[in-house]
Amino acid sequence: MCLDLLNIAKMPEVRFKGENIKCEKGANLRKVLLENGLSPHNGNSRVVSCFGIGTCGTCAVKLTGTTNPISTKEKIRLSLAPHQLSNGLRLACQVKVTHDLLVEKGDGFWGQHI
Ligand code: FES
Repeated sequence: MCLDLLNIAKMPEVRFKGENIKCEKGANLRKVLLENGLSPHNGNSRVVSCFGIGTCGTCAVKLTGTTNPISTKEKIRLSLAPHQLSNGLRLACQVKVTHDLLVEKGDGFWGQHI
């Protein structure tokens, strides 16, 4: 019981571009990055992004770690060019940080080159 309480209280950590960010369990990954001065978008793609509704694909990132399962909406967007679902990327705006995550961003406007 005490160990369960400790695990619940443990805040997950996001590692991205050399930074380690602790956040609330279940926090939105895109928001966590932006609120900490980081971005899952390359260059000007943030300006023309869908701002987190999961349609533009510019927040695509590679994740290492456990998180919420990919949704149908994500699968659809990540199946459209220039993405390929087989690349295994996720949309940061659709990811809930439930455990420690290593986040990597690829090159290209959409970050599609991992
Ligand atoms: S911000 Fe557009 S898909 Fe994530």
